[in-house]
Amino acid sequence: MDSRFSKLFSPLTLRGVTLKNRIFSTGHDTNLAAGGLINDRLVAYHRARAAGGAGLVILQVSGVHESARYTSHLLMAISDESIPGYRAVADAVHAHGCRVFAQLFHPGREIMESQDGSLPVAYAPSVVPNERFHVMPAPLTLALIREIVAGYGAAAGRMARAGIDGVEIVASHGYLPAQFLNSRTNRREDNYGGNFDNRLRFLREVIAACRAAVGPERVVGMRISGSELDHDGLTEPEVLEACRALAGDGALDYYNVIAGSSASIAGAIHIVPPMAIETGYVAPFAAAVRQVVDKPVFVAGRINQPQIAEQVLASGHADLCGMTRAMICDPEMPAKTAAGRLDDIRACIACNQACIGHFHLGYAISCIQHPETGRELEYGALKPASRRKRVVVAGGGPGGMKAAAVAAARGHDVTLYEATGRLGGQALLAQQLPGRAEFGGIVTNLTREMELAGVKVVKGKAVDPALLAELEPDAVVLATGARPRRPAIEGAEAAHMVDVWQLLRGEVNVGASALVADWRCDWIGMGVAEMLARAGCRVRLAVNGYVPGQRIQQYVRDQGNGTLHKLGVEVIPYARLYGADGDTVYLQHMSSGEPIICEGVDTVVLALGHEQETALAEALAGWPGELHRIGDCVAPRTAEEAVLEGLKVASVL
Ligand SMILES: Cc1cc2nc3c(=O)[nH]c(=O)nc-3n(C[C@H](O)[C@H](O)[C@H](O)COP(=O)(O)O)c2cc1C
Ligand code: SF4
Repeated sequence: MDSRFSKLFSPLTLRGVTLKNRIFSTGHDTNLAAGGLINDRLVAYHRARAAGGAGLVILQVSGVHESARYTSHLLMAISDESIPGYRAVADAVHAHGCRVFAQLFHPGREIMESQDGSLPVAYAPSVVPNERFHVMPAPLTLALIREIVAGYGAAAGRMARAGIDGVEIVASHGYLPAQFLNSRTNRREDNYGGNFDNRLRFLREVIAACRAAVGPERVVGMRISGSELDHDGLTEPEVLEACRALAGDGALDYYNVIAGSSASIAGAIHIVPPMAIETGYVAPFAAAVRQVVDKPVFVAGRINQPQIAEQVLASGHADLCGMTRAMICDPEMPAKTAAGRLDDIRACIACNQACIGHFHLGYAISCIQHPETGRELEYGALKPASRRKRVVVAGGGPGGMKAAAVAAARGHDVTLYEATGRLGGQALLAQQLPGRAEFGGIVTNLTREMELAGVKVVKGKAVDPALLAELEPDAVVLATGARPRRPAIEGAEAAHMVDVWQLLRGEVNVGASALVADWRCDWIGMGVAEMLARAGCRVRLAVNGYVPGQRIQQYVRDQGNGTLHKLGVEVIPYARLYGADGDTVYLQHMSSGEPIICEGVDTVVLALGHEQETALAEALAGWPGELHRIGDCVAPRTAEEAVLEGLKVASVL
């Protein structure tokens, strides 16, 4: 055991349940379940985290009542039909010496979608609307409150019968228990509203129902936001008051502290904080809770490396560290830490793209750096190659690197050629955008994966037909990427137009006033606008869509838009770049077709996407051997698709 992590690898006992270390995976909705029930895919997902050394896995939210369906794919614990699934996960996780809890969930008014597209009735303590999902709830009747409380107990009982070690009541993020607690969302005049004790009544009844259902041996804990960081959300003093009172009751075995609220844009950013938010930032909230309770306190939120987790524990801020995306990205992170293999950890870069990004789009969880996540049944175990081939990979961006690493790990003899002097491709530019330096971690991580797998890397040398004729490889993987798209634009010659790559490479000056023409509506246009505004430039961001960052994960988008607003960037929505005339730029409204005229523009920055780099593919048109193409050279997309295609191609070589 690595002595630098003595706290992280010390056991912790909660009631009758001992956790072997202080690393846990917090409850997170995976979208892997089908029909509201746990299936083999979800079991395989958690088996991988348990096998990787986590001390505790907390299963994603399970609905406790029919009215709890906040998405169409929520796991449900409302009937005994759910028991075999919980048992299967419990057995799989226990087999690796890991313990498992499950979250009990009712969202109240925080309803995102329905089963059939019609708007469902959301229930809340009072008729107070939700800002983020635009839901006006119906008030809970006393009969429904009783039913829901009983639902928590019944669900907890099913989990206990299935062998789940503990249950966690989700009182965080502005969900139903928090809606009762909060005087801004609870306007009731009966026993469940008004004074503090009345507002706490629902939570107390839920805790009592769960304790009665699981018995004295199993754990009952609670997740709570240390502050909901929302204009109408629970404040830190209010949360501390509630925790102090519940500690006085002595019924809870732990307090799991997080931040944020589902109810608003600003609060929701903290549900899964993006990379622009500093690591470990929730720890002070946990420390404050720890002052007022006498049971272990858990914490999560941007703890992506074991060094940070050890620091959180050593400074006494918390007793257990949630490292959720850290293990979505690298399920073996705990085992690697224990073995002192810190350089081998694939650190999560908080891009939010394929984990929570997939969740909001209704797709199964994955990771842009580790597409094996969520695909454990297909790619969980590396299949050794039946015959060792000599493989050449052309292009050292994320896709080529992943292809090379996996092919070599399967036993192939792999050489990767990168035409420039540096590995990384477009990730090297992406990491220069403000607040996105961590994106460069994808290059560090894939470089290490290639080293570990024994890939030979040749930099500063492009692959061409002559080289391949000389090398005679058994298989070639083309991962040559893309270049900026520069379509013909009327008046471009007389205006100052530069592309984002030129700007990020420091090849051009911009002047005092810039217009960013953003076709992709992703990180690039927003990032460049922020960068220029920070440099003192007047910036207009013309998006060929509804809103900057329209196509990226919503917390990243919303955080970015907040920053642009603070910096005074003028956003022009629905704007297609049409042409320019000196320092006048002509845009066209996407819907009305009317012109939008912008004057006094020194430089137009083109964020118009990319075109595939096909020169090598064309030169190899008649190549007789095994030839594959992956990533942007097929069709320009993002690092996620490039890495996934790298995995897929390497798996069939
Ligand atoms: C895909 C995804 C789904 C999530 N779903 C839940 C959930 O079901 N319940 C919950 O309490 N938190 C949920 N969260 C929040 C996580 O539990 C955790 O608080 C968050 O990811 C921050 O921790 P991290 O920085 O270690 O990833 C989810 C997070 C992700 C990435
Ligand atoms: S997709 Fe991004 S944020 Fe999500 S786990 Fe992977 S690296 Fe982390």
